[in-house]
Amino acid sequence: MKAPLRVMNMEVRHPAGSQSRGSEAQAVADAHRDMIVLENVSKLYGQAVALHETDLVVREGEFLSLLGPSGSGKSTILNIIAGAVAPTNGRILLNGQDVSMVPPRERGLGMVFQNYALLPHLNVFDNVAFALRIRRIGKEEIGKRVRNALERVGLVGYEERKPRELSGGQQQRVGIARCIVYSPSVILMDEPLGALDKKLREQLQAEIKRLHKDLGTTLVYVTHDQEEALDLSDRVCLMNGGHIAQVGTPQELYFEPVNAFVADFVGESNLIEGRLTARDTLTTTDGLTLAVRSTEGHATGAPVKVLVRPEKIRVIEGAEQQVVPSQHNFCTGVIAQTSFVGSMTRIAVRCQGGLLLRIKIASSRVSDCLTAGTPVSVGWAASDSIVLKN
Ligand SMILES: Nc1ncnc2c1ncn2[C@@H]1O[C@H](COP(=O)(O)OP(=O)(O)OP(=O)(O)O)[C@@H](O)[C@H]1O
Ligand SMILES: [Mg+2]
Repeated sequence: MKAPLRVMNMEVRHPAGSQSRGSEAQAVADAHRDMIVLENVSKLYGQAVALHETDLVVREGEFLSLLGPSGSGKSTILNIIAGAVAPTNGRILLNGQDVSMVPPRERGLGMVFQNYALLPHLNVFDNVAFALRIRRIGKEEIGKRVRNALERVGLVGYEERKPRELSGGQQQRVGIARCIVYSPSVILMDEPLGALDKKLREQLQAEIKRLHKDLGTTLVYVTHDQEEALDLSDRVCLMNGGHIAQVGTPQELYFEPVNAFVADFVGESNLIEGRLTARDTLTTTDGLTLAVRSTEGHATGAPVKVLVRPEKIRVIEGAEQQVVPSQHNFCTGVIAQTSFVGSMTRIAVRCQGGLLLRIKIASSRVSDCLTAGTPVSVGWAASDSIVLKN
């Protein structure tokens, strides 16, 4: 069903490193080309700040997700890029050109909305053809391009159906086909999979990932689902209250969060509160002394939070201490709760002194024995204890 993409429009750009590029040096240079630049962009509604002054660069061919809680400013950024919302301050560059005063339609961007925004009285073919007809493209060419776009999203054979005769996932695919049919060099998607069930979401996530790879388009993708953002993106821009909290690769956000908000929002976490008594030692509010990854930029005595990811903590039955010799931090405690979620088992351990640790281990016969009330020893490394700014 799904034929390889034929490039219909030379607006399509290839990602850095694709075989259509020449030398490796060229690929390196391309990797740094800026496709979208926000300079000092802010948005106020009356006195209310939707977006504080923000700088953001999206590189050519990049998949960048805007992630964050509801009301954090994700759609505001996307709509400012699209031209649907005028910024209060700052300017927007697209491919090096200042487009701050350019109306949305002339920015040449593709947009996929959460609610599909299909035209209900038009069938699938005409919905997909709509943008091409506006551009006054010939009938034969329209036929070719629509067929191609429908092949890409696996909807050949559905041309005559009206939107109401399609499932949610199929409507969403029409939304995507309608966008890719005119090969925009930048595609903006605002929570496109928000309304779909888990299985369908996963299926369409894989399709969006493949489309991005095949088309080489620069893609800005809004989501509040951190797993989706980590899975799909080259980089993630995490928003909090109209500010950028951190921009980085999924690995950077997960392993090197800049503050407690990022650590808490991305992945599961233990955030242990205390004071640094040395560059590599924390005294917790429960009175435990823990070895932490050595840190600069925090004064001794400063109140901090220390991040330990649940999968970094080892747990064994019995209160013998010393879980693994190389680990620096040990506690004994009792299992407060377990939760089996298929391949993983989540365990909460109440340590002596009161500290509650969340632990994640691969489900097995061993994890079966770790039931509530079991005395256990837990241990983790100093290098897995990351000191964060509050
Ligand atoms: N037209 C408007 N008038 C007044 N305030 C607005 C307007 N549009 C957005 N806001 C406010 O700006 C802030 C950011 O909104 P935005 O839509 O960017 O959030 P979001 O991160 O996309 O949230 P969600 O995940 O709920 O879609 C919110 O506090 C919102 O109430
Ligand atoms: Mg939104």
